[in-house]
Amino acid sequence: MKALLSLGLLLLSVTVQAKVCKHCKLVTLLKSHGMDGYRGLNMTNWVCLAQHGSNYNTQITNYNPGDQSTNYGIFQINSRYWCNDDKTLRAVNACGIPCSALLLDDITQAIKCAKTVVKSPEDMKIWVAWRNHCPNRDLTQYIGNCGV
Ligand SMILES: *[C@@H]1O[C@H](CO)[C@@H](O)[C@H](O)[C@H]1NC(C)=O
Repeated sequence: MKALLSLGLLLLSVTVQAKVCKHCKLVTLLKSHGMDGYRGLNMTNWVCLAQHGSNYNTQITNYNPGDQSTNYGIFQINSRYWCNDDKTLRAVNACGIPCSALLLDDITQAIKCAKTVVKSPEDMKIWVAWRNHCPNRDLTQYIGNCGV
């Protein structure tokens, strides 16, 4: 019984640590790519978007039946304007990349493309997840405990 309980606690702490790791890994990468203060936006906005848009899952895709486009990856970047997935009508591909590049473990391309998307702080509003969870809030918690 006691052994089972400590096994349970061990598993719980491993899960919690994995979560902390994921978000602090993102914080470190954002910082090293100059995303803190980029276009006047604190990087907490990107962590908030990643948490609510993809739960830090780089492999996630979401289809938008409205315009038949798809959102890709950790920041949920849209195929209508920003990347090419060979199936979105009148796609622009402003980032000049295949959308699959936004699904890699290595998020370098995703960060680069995010920089293309956001020309001013207002542009964060294109993301529903950001609109619903991030504006006019204290976002300090999103980089708390990461030691940056
Ligand atoms: C971003 O927000 C954090 C926490 O609120 C703060 O410590 C940091 O200085 C801010 N960065 C910029 C570039 O304003």
